[in-house]
Amino acid sequence: MEFPTVRPRRLRRTPALRAMVAETSLEARQLVLPAFVREDATEPVPISSMPGVVQHTRSSLKAAAAEAAELGLGGIMLFGVPSAKDATGSGALDPGGILNVAIADVAAEVGDALTVMSDLCLDEFTSHGHCGVLDAEGRVDNDATLEVYAEMARAHAAAGVDMVGPSGMMDGQVRVIRSALDEAGAADVAILAYSAKYASAFYGPFREAVGSSLQGDRRTYQQDSGNAVEGVREALLDIEEGADLVMVKPALAYLDVIRRVRDAVDVPVVAYNISGEYSMVEAAAANGWIEREPAILETLLSIRRAGADVVLTYWAAEAARLLRR
Ligand code: PBG
Repeated sequence: MEFPTVRPRRLRRTPALRAMVAETSLEARQLVLPAFVREDATEPVPISSMPGVVQHTRSSLKAAAAEAAELGLGGIMLFGVPSAKDATGSGALDPGGILNVAIADVAAEVGDALTVMSDLCLDEFTSHGHCGVLDAEGRVDNDATLEVYAEMARAHAAAGVDMVGPSGMMDGQVRVIRSALDEAGAADVAILAYSAKYASAFYGPFREAVGSSLQGDRRTYQQDSGNAVEGVREALLDIEEGADLVMVKPALAYLDVIRRVRDAVDVPVVAYNISGEYSMVEAAAANGWIEREPAILETLLSIRRAGADVVLTYWAAEAARLLRR
C-alpha cells in the first residue's frame, strides 16, 4: 500500500485554512438588489411566484433602499410597474411616471451611499409588453425604439440616476443612450449594458412581478440560448458603443458565457441572477428539498466564480446579512 504524499485535503482541515485559500469571495459590495415599485400600490404587494419579493410602494421602496445602503450593497436596480400602459410606453417618459419618481425618491434617500440604477426598457410600459415600439406590421421597430430610449435616458438622468441599464436588446442602443446623456449634460451617468441577454424561460416570475402583458416571445431581439460566441460579440459591440459595464443574463444557465465575456473584455462584468433562478431555489427550499441559505450562497458564489464581478440578485440584502454572520 502506497500512501499519498500529495494531499490537497491538508488545506481543507480547518475553517481558517479553508478561508485562507478560498479563491472566490462574495461581498455585499458586489451585490445589487433589483426592486419593483408599483404606481397604484398603497402597501407592498407580494409576488406569488417570487416568495419574499414584493412590488413596493414609493415609501417601502425608500426603506428598502436605505436598508440596502446600510448593508453595504453595491446598488439598487429599479423597475417601475405603471398603472396605465399604452402602445408607445409613454409612462416611461413622463417625469411624473412611476419609475422616474422612484429614481428621484431613492436618490434623495440614499445620496451617494448606494448606486441608483434603472432598468431602461419599455416592456413594463407598453400595452403589448414588448421592449420597444411596433411598426405597422406589429414587428419591434429597432430605430424608432432607439429614439424613445434616448428620451427615457434623459428622463432617468433628470431624476438623478447614477447608472442606466438598457435591457431591450435593440441594436445601437448603447451608442444612442450615451450621446443622449452626454448632450443632456449627464456625462457622469454610467451605462450598464444588458449585452448578452438570452430569450429565457426563466424570466417567467419576473413577468408576474411587472404585470407584463406580453403575448408571444422576444426571440427577434433576445438571443438564442445556444449562442455563446454571439454573447461575446454583443458585449464587445456594447463596449465599442460606450458601455461602462456589460451584463450577461440569465446567470445560471449561462455561466460559460459569463466566463467567456470576462476573458474577452476589460470592463466590469455583471450577471443577473434572475427571477426564475430565485424561484427555483425558493420552491425547493419551501418543500424541504434543499437547504435554503447554503443554496443561496453557493448559487451566488458560482456566478462570481464564473467571472462576474457584480451580481444582481433578489437575495442581495439577505445574502449581505448572511455574510455578516
Ligand atoms: C426587460 C427585463 C426583463 C428582466 C429584466 N429586465 C424581462 C424580459 O426580458 O423579459 C428579467 C429579470 C428577471 O427575470 O429577474 N425590461
